[in-house]
Amino acid sequence: MNVKVYKNFLSNDECQMLNNIALANTNNWFGFGLSHNAFIDTRLTTRLYMENKTYTQEVLDVSKKVRAFVGVDKFPLIYDHGSNGVVVSITYQNGDVPIHQDPKSAKGLPAYRCNILTQTNEDGAELYVDGKKINVEAGDLHCYMASELPHFVTTAKGKTPRIMYMFGAYIPKEYWSKYEFKETELA
Ligand SMILES: [Fe+2]
Repeated sequence: MNVKVYKNFLSNDECQMLNNIALANTNNWFGFGLSHNAFIDTRLTTRLYMENKTYTQEVLDVSKKVRAFVGVDKFPLIYDHGSNGVVVSITYQNGDVPIHQDPKSAKGLPAYRCNILTQTNEDGAELYVDGKKINVEAGDLHCYMASELPHFVTTAKGKTPRIMYMFGAYIPKEYWSKYEFKETELA
């Protein structure tokens, strides 16, 4: 299995805290997302818009917690996007993420993304990784090699925005198989 899902990694309160932080900073940290070669206002992301900005300490603390839990805290942050290796997205009705693979690091290291959905929308917005639908709910941590596996999210429906926090690390290739199968190590 190429995607590891850890159910209820964050509590409802922790998700709500992260949702409030994202929504309070929509005008500071976020800009339009890219979909089919055009910037769209139905999905906002911090990916390209965090130069000279930092997230709040609560966000950095969750990043630390995720990286330690997954066992990637000794590896580099995914420093090319967002800030401190963290990207946040808010997807509104009719927003989507077209199929893509994340970029590798400048030195060619694969990017292992460990993401937490902190708020779900009413319908749609289904995540597919490597051709398979991945069922994730608010609070679930899900990890995969985002630079290696094609992934996309179908069009969101409903008036509640979908909010996703993306953490992770660049993984030296010699460790790739280890982190791909982390779930069995934790068992
Ligand atoms: Fe991606």
